[in-house]
Amino acid sequence: MNILITAGPTREPIDPVRYLSNRSSGKMGYALAQAALNHNHHVTLISGPVSLPAPSGAHLIPVETALQMFDAVRTTISHCDIAIFAAAVADYRPVTSSSQKLKKHPSSLSLHLEPTEDILGSARSLFNFSGYLVGFAAETENLIAHAQSKLTRKKCDLIIANDVSQPGIGFDSTENAVTLCFPNGEIHPLPKQSKQTLAAVLFDTILARATPLPPTPHA
Ligand code: PMT
Repeated sequence: MNILITAGPTREPIDPVRYLSNRSSGKMGYALAQAALNHNHHVTLISGPVSLPAPSGAHLIPVETALQMFDAVRTTISHCDIAIFAAAVADYRPVTSSSQKLKKHPSSLSLHLEPTEDILGSARSLFNFSGYLVGFAAETENLIAHAQSKLTRKKCDLIIANDVSQPGIGFDSTENAVTLCFPNGEIHPLPKQSKQTLAAVLFDTILARATPLPPTPHA
């Protein structure tokens, strides 16, 4: 099957040397890509800037900003059977980015921010994706309620809820613990384990529920 995975952070430029970003290392998304490759699937990995080597055999599309990730997903998702959105995409970007390094002034500085593209939320509504759609929900409170809300709003088949308030899991850690939320209300916690082991369990779960897209008829 063709598998699309997003991973890592995005960087939203403020000026040539500064940006808004987050602490995503890409480890969770890259581990999912490796799990899919271990099953001999074709993997497109759209990744923000990380310091991890590309998994051997993956088609890596490196991006920097949310808009670049949006464009890369838009052009690749239609031929995919499964899309897994593990990236930590910035929700806001500066409205303008200075072409010159901002100088320090004694007064305070305000940044005017605008929302970025909702890539996961566009999968069904803009990209007409009909495959198996998996999102993550990184939450610091009301984990299951917020995850279930994302599941419904973004028309996902599965949301992987990640309690990022817990030390030792989530962003930039080697281990993770998540709760799977399905549209039928089923909730399935998975205990703390290495991101590699967890990714293998997650991918097996996804594979068991996803069905391949019918072949595209030739013109
Ligand atoms: O990279 P690691 O250090 O290994 O950390 C893993 C992780 C914590 C980043 C990962 O497990 C995780 O939780 N990823 C989702 C992070 C996130 O930003 O979640 P969110 O609740 O803000 O976003 C919900 C979903 O929408 C996610 O699937 C996200 O990829 C997607 N999204 C968000 C914003 C946006 N503009 N476009 C999106 O597609």
